[in-house]
Amino acid sequence: MEQLVRENKPLRVGLEAVDNAATIHQEREWDGAELKSPQQLVTEIDFRIEQRIKERLSAEFPTHAFVGEEEGSEGASESVWYIDPIDGTTDFVYDLPHSSISLAYVVDGVRTVGIVHHPESDTTYAAVAGEGAYRNGDQISVSDETDLSRSLFGIGFSQNDVNSQTLRTAFEFLIDETLGVRRYGSAALQLCYAADGTFDGFLHRNLGSWDVAAGTLIVEEAGGVVTDFAGNSTEEQLFEGDVVATNEQLRDRMEFVTPS
Ligand code: IPD
Ligand code: CA
Ligand code: CA
Repeated sequence: MEQLVRENKPLRVGLEAVDNAATIHQEREWDGAELKSPQQLVTEIDFRIEQRIKERLSAEFPTHAFVGEEEGSEGASESVWYIDPIDGTTDFVYDLPHSSISLAYVVDGVRTVGIVHHPESDTTYAAVAGEGAYRNGDQISVSDETDLSRSLFGIGFSQNDVNSQTLRTAFEFLIDETLGVRRYGSAALQLCYAADGTFDGFLHRNLGSWDVAAGTLIVEEAGGVVTDFAGNSTEEQLFEGDVVATNEQLRDRMEFVTPS
């Protein structure tokens, strides 16, 4: 990956920006978490990380635009950085070790670079379109498990989504057919667990573009497939935030994925 970092400026600067902002995450000092909407916490750390990342990126790429979870959209350009400063704020606030910083570089609507950093283990996942996926510099690939009954899946949901029949059907299928399901606080990090074979797959509905932009590229570059719950895998569709990520063999066994 060293050569890739040398030759790909958005990757290099993106990694530097995330690395630098991670020091704010590690300080873990904030004045109280606020509810920004029902069941959604935010801290001043979320804002500070987003601002720090934007400062670093703007210095190198003054014309690029941003879509950040906390500060919204800024600028107009075909080159856009998607930022989730803390994915898994609830876990962060409750001192659970499963949050991440997610950053993606998107050009003309196409995911080009994806970076997810897990501060608690100092692990960085990164991918460049067409150039593979990496964990702390080493190339990674999705699990080669083909047997559903031996597969472990990550899942996620937002509270207002639990009554969704699509989600219930999918969860029932996984609970019945797989070895087990796990739910951690960061969707972006769970996508990376699907990318490096820790999980055999991951699914979630209704995520934000900043949640999925980096992690889905990392899964695909690790040889996995990502679709929505109707089997679509276009860029536009993935940005809608419904994701089923796994390897090709298990993907064919996901009976709940129903083409619309
Ligand atoms: C949340 C996390 C969580 C997912 C929620 C997201 P946030 O992001 O990704 O895993 O289940 O739907 O909103 O709010 O912590 O950035
Ligand atoms: Ca998030
Ligand atoms: Ca967030």
